[in-house]
Amino acid sequence: MRYAKISQVAHYVPSQVITNDDLSQIMDTSDEWISSRTGIKNRHITKDESTADLASQVAKQLLEKASLEASSIDFIIVATVTPDSMMPSTAAKVQAAIGATNAFVFDLTAACSGFVFALSTAEKFIQSGLYQKGLVIGAETFSKTIDWSDRRTAVLFGDGAGGVLLEASDKAHFLAESLHSDGSRGDGLTSGVVGLNSPFSVVEDNLPYVTMDGRAIFDFTIRDVSKSIAELIERSSFTADSIDYLLLHQANIRILDKMAKKIGVDREKFLANMMEYGNTCAASIPILLSESVDNGTIRLDGSQTILLSGFGGGLTWGSLIVKI
Ligand code: ACO
Repeated sequence: MRYAKISQVAHYVPSQVITNDDLSQIMDTSDEWISSRTGIKNRHITKDESTADLASQVAKQLLEKASLEASSIDFIIVATVTPDSMMPSTAAKVQAAIGATNAFVFDLTAACSGFVFALSTAEKFIQSGLYQKGLVIGAETFSKTIDWSDRRTAVLFGDGAGGVLLEASDKAHFLAESLHSDGSRGDGLTSGVVGLNSPFSVVEDNLPYVTMDGRAIFDFTIRDVSKSIAELIERSSFTADSIDYLLLHQANIRILDKMAKKIGVDREKFLANMMEYGNTCAASIPILLSESVDNGTIRLDGSQTILLSGFGGGLTWGSLIVKI
């Protein structure tokens, strides 16, 4: 039996930091409102780097950390809802940037669940025995999809990228998963709506910017996502105690507080960094994972059990329990 293992992690964020006070200069908001409702203090916003640039930096770091030639990579998956173009994909641009000439590559669109869905997909590729090594990256330049005159959404998001090198292993590391979607509730969170536009159709409006029913999304996370995490832990014969850390999508600190109570897991086990980066959508979990390895909280030595959980547009939500 062949298994997959996360062998390296890396992240990269643009250097420009925008504080809540900076935002209060350009819109009717305040550090007090943003901090108390979301926990967010700063976000990194790109000046001139694209989504592919951020993702390529992560890919380069992963190769360097593993001392690998780019030609040894079998596949690259980039999870993003803010690609620089639909064609070529972000992953194709990363492939070109690092010279991963033997890889097959594609983008995966599952909003803030994108990294978890991509990691699950990549694990199956490795498990098939057909592929040995793959890069799985979450990368977003969310700043370009924000209506900066809408304070209800503009304060929440940031730009960044994070990713992992996944390699074949003879031990099981991916222990359990549950992935879900509910397209019937998709209108609660939208962006990049492209209307019909041809001489032969009824021309429609484009709606490029993020729209969000904040309350509905908040309720969805507390109700549906908490339930699925609790069920996954129970179904896979884990206990709250046996999970060392939970790395959830970094949308809002209040979501983590409420989820911890609902799931019945010690709040201390929920790692958080949205204070510094805001909500970076598909990039938020791998950025958090990489930072947690950098600061020594998580070790890549097979001794810890972590739960990764993404949730967001689609609607989509999903969790993985990984021995890391
Ligand atoms: N600054 C100051 N005031 C604001 C701001 C702001 N940035 N944004 C909204 N307000 C005002 C509103 O206008 C409203 O004023 P009113 O009562 O005079 O009309 C008041 O604050 C309350 O607005 P609500 O939208 O009801 O605020 P709420 O308490 O619901 O908090 C929030 C909004 C933080 C977005 C919350 O709904 C939430 O966390 N939702 C979860 C959604 C989320 O995190 N989405 C991220 C993307 S999806 C994902 O990643 C899963």
